[in-house]
Amino acid sequence: MSLDKTYKKVPGTTIFDAEQSAKGYHLNQFCMSLMKAANRERYLADERAYLDEWPLTEKQKQALLDRDLNAAIAEGGNIYFLSKWGATLGLSFQQMAGSMTGMSEQDYRDMMLHGGRSIEGNRIADQVREGHYKAEDTTGPDERPTITGSVFTSHVPAIGAAWDQHKTEEPYWKAVFDGYEYSKEYEKENTPDVVFLVYNDHATAFDLSLIPTFVLGTGASYPAADEGYGPRPVPGIDGDPDFAAHIAHSLIREDFDLTLVNEMTVDHGLTVPLSLMFGDVERWPCKVIPFHVNVVQYPIPSGERCFALGQALRRAIESYDKPLNVQIWGTGGMSHQLQGPRAGLINAEWDNRWMDALVEDPASLAQVPHLEYVEEAGSEGIELVMWFIARGAMSDITGDGEVEVKHRFYHVPASNTAVGHLILENHPRATVSAEKE
Ligand code: DHB
Ligand code: FE
Repeated sequence: MSLDKTYKKVPGTTIFDAEQSAKGYHLNQFCMSLMKAANRERYLADERAYLDEWPLTEKQKQALLDRDLNAAIAEGGNIYFLSKWGATLGLSFQQMAGSMTGMSEQDYRDMMLHGGRSIEGNRIADQVREGHYKAEDTTGPDERPTITGSVFTSHVPAIGAAWDQHKTEEPYWKAVFDGYEYSKEYEKENTPDVVFLVYNDHATAFDLSLIPTFVLGTGASYPAADEGYGPRPVPGIDGDPDFAAHIAHSLIREDFDLTLVNEMTVDHGLTVPLSLMFGDVERWPCKVIPFHVNVVQYPIPSGERCFALGQALRRAIESYDKPLNVQIWGTGGMSHQLQGPRAGLINAEWDNRWMDALVEDPASLAQVPHLEYVEEAGSEGIELVMWFIARGAMSDITGDGEVEVKHRFYHVPASNTAVGHLILENHPRATVSAEKE
């Protein structure tokens, strides 16, 4: 099923969606720079030279030099951003809007004075009559992505530091890294095209000025963050803006109110799992779409909400029109408490029962309230709610397939934390029923 973008058919109208936003990213950021008087002055002194400082396409630059707002919008510009450019040139919103209609400034003003443009002739149906519609999307199911499996792992920063400082053979750390030997082999044999990586930012990219609940990374690349110890010597990640824009469209249409972020750094929550699964590499072997969940400041989303999001994520991924292999990773946990006199709390029995239930009955487990996590698994054990996003995206949840546990590992301690790790493989229904017969 392809996504409904019927809004593209409204005549004389460009809807600014994540796709347009990706296209016009630098154009709109250029416009924002004109909110500073000094930049406006420099722009007006030499428009071409100022435009050349930005990574704009020639079409985008030409649109502005030609004062052609229709062209600027076709190239991804948004009117609220472009209005900063218009204001720099001394244009009002009415002059800017009128300039796109093919009417003279006076005629446009007069039209507005006489009640504005008529709806007659400006509906989608009027375009149907004139035969302006494009052919319907005919992408077949074999060209859709496949979610091949999910990976769950703790993301303790000290694991990254041990890795970076070549301490993997020290007995303390060897016991941790041994649990990921199978995983590295598994990823070599089953390298995905894209990892959708659910993690939490730990007061790194987001401080208290902005506290989004769910963040989807729609940008092209994200550098590894400096969390105070200097950045880890690992590559940054390459995103997949087009795929992420599609996922954004699908999830937000299903009423998940995401924050879309094009620029941010990524901290240990994301880079430590990559090191554990892919080892030492010059570049990560696949694209990574980062997905942050607020688990720092309450209120934090519930397990049920995350589980439902995972199910919607599967629909989003499977409706994209490229045959990609996709893995969903859930990170964080297991039991740990990093604060107060109860710091160091570990509840191995609870953790292992929780992992059993995550595999066998995730829908019931998702109903466990936050209080139980805090009480039984420590204040930072709440990171485990993120695992439900990856679990919800597996095919057994809807009965379309089955999951196979390829690997399970549990170890105490890594720093203050119990390390938990699972690899689940997705088998579509066809394979499942064939195997049973
Ligand atoms: C530790 C674990 C975490 O998940 C984290 O984000 C920070 C620190 C720890 O055990 O030290
Ligand atoms: Fe953490």
